Amino acid sequence: MTMTAQDLPPVQVQNLGKSFGQGKSRVNALVNVSLEVRQGEHVAVIGPSGSGKSTLLHLIAGLTGADFGRVVIAGQDLAEMKDRRLTLFRRRHIGMVFQSYNLIPTLTVEDNLRLPLLLERGRAPANGRIDALLTTLGLENRRRHRPDQLSGGEQQRVAIGRAMIADPTVILADEPTGNLDSASSRNLCKLLQRLCDEHGRTIITVTHDPAVAVWADRVMVLKDGRIVETLDTSAYDSARELGVRFLEILDRNEGADACA
Ligand SMILES: Nc1ncnc2c1ncn2[C@@H]1O[C@H](COP(=O)(O)OP(=O)(O)OP(=O)(O)O)[C@@H](O)[C@H]1O
Ligand SMILES: [Mg+2]
Repeated sequence: MTMTAQDLPPVQVQNLGKSFGQGKSRVNALVNVSLEVRQGEHVAVIGPSGSGKSTLLHLIAGLTGADFGRVVIAGQDLAEMKDRRLTLFRRRHIGMVFQSYNLIPTLTVEDNLRLPLLLERGRAPANGRIDALLTTLGLENRRRHRPDQLSGGEQQRVAIGRAMIADPTVILADEPTGNLDSASSRNLCKLLQRLCDEHGRTIITVTHDPAVAVWADRVMVLKDGRIVETLDTSAYDSARELGVRFLEILDRNEGADACA
């Protein structure tokens, strides 16, 4: 059997390294990070503050270049593209969701959803498409609201819709529940997992919160820029259990050379 582009994991990260600064103030933000995400898989990267989570997402998104290693999305090595081609590739293949929603305040929910496609192709998506997306997001009755008329959880669901509208290869979410209360946070995590299970989306979520990570299929633990462990969430009955394991892993690697 021959391998086709379809068989390749949509996200391949190989031996990624990135540091900031010079001399004594030099920080190794990522050290030899490798990961693969399969089509329809939800991977969480969990780590304490400063462990390199946002740096990793920015490199996967092609927002920053790596010092070492490769990021391959949908079979394409990001380092092989420059400026305009990379920008177009990113619009087509990568959807981003941030802690601070980043919606356009003067636009309604449906216009916020349409915007990425207008930017990309200069035309609006079919209304049926928007309707279906609003239903998936549970926002059918909010389509004409502006962001300031929505709860935080609703705003974040719009941001997820905006990240999905161009049918990207992967959705990257950076602390997507960071500004939400625990009930809205849970709903959002359920939505992300449903997008993978039922809609075949591929998602990477970075978080410091085990209650968020437990919703993913697989959890990679990042510490001081290194992946020190990969956990299968099906082996954990609760966020609490996963949280205990996470703390054990951080303690175990404390002070040690975490190369394992
Ligand atoms: N542009 C930059 N210039 C210098 N240092 C940076 C830069 N970006 C990140 N760093 C450093 O790299 C390390 C990793 O930062 P990063 O933002 O990836 O962490 P994080 O895991 O996302 O943390 P948080 O949970 O607080 O968001 C930190 O020590 C940070 O200070
Ligand atoms: Mg961060």
